[in-house]
Amino acid sequence: MNDKLYQEELLEHYKYPKHRKKLATHDFKAGDYNPSCGDRIAIEGTVNDNVITDLGFEGSGCVISQAATSMLTEMCVGNTIEAVMALTKDDISTLIGIPLGPTRLKCALLCLQVLQEGLAVYQQR
Ligand code: FES
Repeated sequence: MNDKLYQEELLEHYKYPKHRKKLATHDFKAGDYNPSCGDRIAIEGTVNDNVITDLGFEGSGCVISQAATSMLTEMCVGNTIEAVMALTKDDISTLIGIPLGPTRLKCALLCLQVLQEGLAVYQQR
């Protein structure tokens, strides 16, 4: 895909986010915010036999932070906890698909940080 198509996909996720929902029950939950702008994301999820079975998020913020959360949650449902814990900023850059400067990369990484925080606490139980 070229940059324009990736941008359209981002906007599509921003306008019609996947997994922006409240779950009936959850096994883990975490939230955080970007201190430079105050934008926030909270993610909750269910786990069965080490596999993430559902994710729901809420949050407010810029197109990148909210669209990245939609894309990440869509990608991670059905994956093992270990696979998600192993994701890095390079994986998020690949998922977003367009070059991001350091400030925008922080917007995109907020969701991964929150999801991994929630899973880390879940793993310690
Ligand atoms: Fe706040 Fe992007 S400007 S997370």
